[in-house]
Amino acid sequence: MYFKQILDERNGCASYLIASRQSHEAAIVDPSIVTDQYDALLQERNFTLRYVFDTHVHADHVSGARRLAAQHGATLCLHESAMVRYSFRGLRDGEELTLGQLRLRIWHTPGHRPEMISILVINPPRSPEPSMVLTGDSLLVGDVGRPDFGGGDAAMQYESLSRLLRLPDWVAVFPGHFEGPCGKGMCGRPSTTIGFERLYNPLARLDREPFLASLVSSVPARPLNITAIEATNRGLVDLPWAMLTLNESVEEVDVDALEARSPDAVVLDVREPEEYAHGHVPGAISLPQADVATRISEIPRDRPVFAICQAGMRSLRVAQFLKQMGYENVVSVRGGTEAWRRLGKPITVEDANIAQHRIAESDWTHAGVLSYSI
Ligand SMILES: [Fe+2]
Repeated sequence: MYFKQILDERNGCASYLIASRQSHEAAIVDPSIVTDQYDALLQERNFTLRYVFDTHVHADHVSGARRLAAQHGATLCLHESAMVRYSFRGLRDGEELTLGQLRLRIWHTPGHRPEMISILVINPPRSPEPSMVLTGDSLLVGDVGRPDFGGGDAAMQYESLSRLLRLPDWVAVFPGHFEGPCGKGMCGRPSTTIGFERLYNPLARLDREPFLASLVSSVPARPLNITAIEATNRGLVDLPWAMLTLNESVEEVDVDALEARSPDAVVLDVREPEEYAHGHVPGAISLPQADVATRISEIPRDRPVFAICQAGMRSLRVAQFLKQMGYENVVSVRGGTEAWRRLGKPITVEDANIAQHRIAESDWTHAGVLSYSI
């Protein structure tokens, strides 16, 4: 067999090429939108692409699966429950696909997303047992996938994790991420083993109730442009530009500069609506980072833009994205709302009901998707 893990440093994603050296048939799992790298590898190795898998509908990066499958005449595979607006082969739990002598056994491992699959790789000349499992975002190294990305379920995640951890110790684990927003505490290694995770993954050691409590507590903010990226991967829209791909340098200014801004400046608070409601810079407009791409028309191009978040990380990425989109006069506020508050500057607190209303409004994609089925 041939096996290669391809790491995308920018997004913290891992994709995989698996092939039979006997039949020269190949499969690619969770390809990034930069598909040239797979084309080159397939050509160099004289492999024919048979299958392209997305382990789930990604929400943090635009998938290259459809493009690759179309270019190579390969079969696009997702779990049968995937709600997308394009045709694909719907996989069932326990089903096996073959690549020459290799067998790819599909397990449905929902939790991070309802349609999540894991792929067990079996190479019968070597062993009748799986030697590796590609876990997508179900089991990550030192972590599991977050269940709050739309349709996820912590209880299902617990069942899926328990099932995966019943595999033999020696099974090598190759996840869909080594860093990035899909988990909260990934170790950073790009692979692990079932035995190691069973012993040392902090979530694997928890009983059901503490596990559920741990997954639903302190949920991090939704990632940059998740709304546009998820809708693109479902085939509802085509917004591949919603991914941050350039390393634009952005000026960071302190809160005094924010206070001394010109009257026409726009202050963009990119935190979640509930964070905004709990206190924001007076006059700041709420536009969560998750929705920047889908609401970009609301951000004026001819006025200075100050992006602000809680501590300055999210706003920096939003400002980079706006620069990527051609905004010239955009800065990020260093230290964010926390620094503003610490210096005793005025804070506006919203009514909690208004915040709830805004959450519902900003959730347009999920609402649209749920009303649509194939
Ligand atoms: Fe994910």
